[in-house]
Amino acid sequence: MNGQTTDLAALEADLLARVDAANDETSLEALRVEALGKQGSISALMKNLGAMSPDERKTFGAGLNVLKDKVTEAIVTKKAAMAEAALDRQLQAEAVDVTLPPVRPRLGTIHPVSQVMEELAAIFGEMGFTVEEGPDIETDFNNFTALNFPPNHPARETHDTFFLDAKGEDGARKVLRTHTSPVQVRTMLKQKPPIRMICMGRTFRKDSDATHTPMFHQIEGLVIDETSTMADLKSVLIAAIKAYFEVDDVKLRFRPHHFPFTEPSAEVDVGCDKSGGQIKIGQGDDWLEILGSGMVHPNVLKSCGIDPEKYQGYAFGMGIDRLAMLKYGMPDLRDFFAADERWLKHYGFSPFLLPGLAQGVGS
Ligand code: PHE
Repeated sequence: MNGQTTDLAALEADLLARVDAANDETSLEALRVEALGKQGSISALMKNLGAMSPDERKTFGAGLNVLKDKVTEAIVTKKAAMAEAALDRQLQAEAVDVTLPPVRPRLGTIHPVSQVMEELAAIFGEMGFTVEEGPDIETDFNNFTALNFPPNHPARETHDTFFLDAKGEDGARKVLRTHTSPVQVRTMLKQKPPIRMICMGRTFRKDSDATHTPMFHQIEGLVIDETSTMADLKSVLIAAIKAYFEVDDVKLRFRPHHFPFTEPSAEVDVGCDKSGGQIKIGQGDDWLEILGSGMVHPNVLKSCGIDPEKYQGYAFGMGIDRLAMLKYGMPDLRDFFAADERWLKHYGFSPFLLPGLAQGVGS
């Protein structure tokens, strides 16, 4: 037809080729302004329409509109493709593999004393013992008098007691409890027999060397009913010690002893092997003292409002730190409380593992 038609075809080919070649949003936008903007090439051609004859204007105008639509559509399509490609790139870069294991929070470790307490709670819990608690600061009555220590008796001093300035209702100075036995008193005062409980916690004595620290931990056990005997005490302790040290057989030796609050009283030694510089429980011909025990003294029952003619029972007390050293091999007790991160990392336990009897309490 005429030259202008040819111009349109050439312009279309040129613009579409450049849209196709544009490789970023900026150049594509520049191209849009160049073709379709107010000063753009297509707009410039629109301005020629006025000078044309009505026929020419009709064909040329229609052709221009088609060109305008084609270029617009090409630009829109290209823009969408670019946006999609950009999104793809972003998703790829930020991809998260949800099948990877989570990053474990750095929780530190469980202190061996806490671990052993959990183990003992699992062992005695399985045997039907409840867990009782008492405060670190005790009255003279609970720590001594109710436990049949005679008033002002030097036995109070043999415990290397920390006496406080504060006085209890009885006018006697309060103490940092020297053993967990006052929790026997607390339990008997608030609960009628049958009683079957353990209590674990801090205890305090003025003492410090490789196997003694001024603060240490004890576990107390108390059973009060109408029939329990020394034989029951013995079988419970054997079962508990076997479960704790995870050994099939263990020898216990009951040696006569004296505690004001039990009669008869016995110190208990566990059979072990001390050759080779390391103590191994459950083998060998050596003995190691691990606990105090006995039948609860009638005077203690009386002090706690329990009729000794009707009720009887046994009690035992063990050092928890000592139990931890024997099982997990720490040589010096003082390290337990030095807050040395290297020691804690080495001897600490995972917070994700709970002691239970099924898998062996220590695993
Ligand atoms: N309380 C005693 C001590 O600390 C241990 C013990 C508890 C003894 C219960 C007998 C009965 O040495």
